[in-house]
Amino acid sequence: MMSIAVCPGSFDPVTKGHLDIITRGAKVFDKVIVAVLINHTKQPLFTTEERIDLLKQVTNHLPNVEVDAFNGLLVDYMKVNKANAIIKGLRAVSDFEYEMQMASINRLLDEEIETFFMMTNNQYSFLSSSIVKEIAKYQADVSSLVPPIVEEALQRKFAAK
Ligand code: PNS
Repeated sequence: MMSIAVCPGSFDPVTKGHLDIITRGAKVFDKVIVAVLINHTKQPLFTTEERIDLLKQVTNHLPNVEVDAFNGLLVDYMKVNKANAIIKGLRAVSDFEYEMQMASINRLLDEEIETFFMMTNNQYSFLSSSIVKEIAKYQADVSSLVPPIVEEALQRKFAAK
């Protein structure tokens, strides 16, 4: 049986921290589907299409990684795609409570689904898409936090605003 994992999130935009988790997950599972949540209550900076496009470009070199979007419950999306694992990065203790809640809810909704947590690389333990946006808004250097094409996309986005 093929092991298919889903790496869900907003990815607004994808950071080097996300890419680290996706890359490491792709070494463990046969296939990793990076699933971008559509219609999140948060107002995103990048459209779903832009977020997918950036993710596709930065994971292009990983043959067993696919990028997709999903609506509704993650467990329903996973059933349709025959995925049985969720992969998540844990940055700090502060992530734990929220992630434990989500993992518990997902298991309640579908007991066949397992959530796997990976400790984020130390160099990205402080990193989040929100922090990247906050810094990029003031034209500060984000080259150590996001891949070059994401940096360019951020510059274009804030220049247009
Ligand atoms: O990057 P984020 O915003 O922390 O990702 C959150 C995400 C997309 C993983 C989570 O909101 C999610 O899975 N949403 C889909 C709706 C769902 O299945 N909810 C029940 C589990 S919390």
